[in-house]
Amino acid sequence: MSANDANNMEISMEKTLIVAQLRRLNIDDLPAVLEIERRSFHEPWSEESYRHELSTNPIARYWGVFIEEQLVGFAGYWLILDEGHISNVAVHPDHRGKGLSKLLMAAVISECRLAEGRRMTLEVRESNTTAQTLYIKFGFSVAGQRPGYYSDNNETALIMWADITDMDVQQLLH
Ligand SMILES: CC(C)(COP(=O)(O)OP(=O)(O)OC[C@H]1O[C@@H](n2cnc3c(N)ncnc32)[C@H](O)[C@@H]1OP(=O)(O)O)[C@@H](O)C(=O)NCCC(=O)NCCS
Repeated sequence: MSANDANNMEISMEKTLIVAQLRRLNIDDLPAVLEIERRSFHEPWSEESYRHELSTNPIARYWGVFIEEQLVGFAGYWLILDEGHISNVAVHPDHRGKGLSKLLMAAVISECRLAEGRRMTLEVRESNTTAQTLYIKFGFSVAGQRPGYYSDNNETALIMWADITDMDVQQLLH
């Protein structure tokens, strides 16, 4: 993996034949983000929330993965002191199972480390074993629970943490 500049990254995944680009998202990406969000979550975040995330929230950093210049997935986190709080990871349903969320996780973890982040955390639904498998692959483990955290079905959130200081992100992609 190499960082071309603060906003672009090249990550190689030799095992796939997909050519995908990663870059930091901005307010121009809002419509495509909302479409993926809507297709990915029962309770999607509002347009206003993402407008704030992509334009005015000073601690928010969002990365997108593109195929043929089309946004097909995104991941974001908030950098708070030396901690990265992952807010969302989503891949368009038509592009799942191609390793794209691994590229996104690699991007946010790499950037967080460059910004001197040492640990990352996230919340995930207890029933979302697909996402949990992804996070475990990237060194996250369950450190606690928030019962009834999700208001739509009263589901428990698992709180996961990872120490990213010595993580070999490129190795984790394979
Ligand atoms: C979770 C999500 C982001 C995964 O995206 P993806 O691009 O399809 O995932 P990848 O192809 O990169 O797979 C990454 C890893 O996730 C796991 N995984 C992916 N699909 C899986 C499935 N159907 N069943 C079990 N594990 C799965 C595997 O461990 C996989 O690694 P591997 O290919 O080395 O075995 C995607 O399913 C999604 O957008 N879901 C809806 C939104 C969501 O739940 N986001 C997480 C909120 S906390």
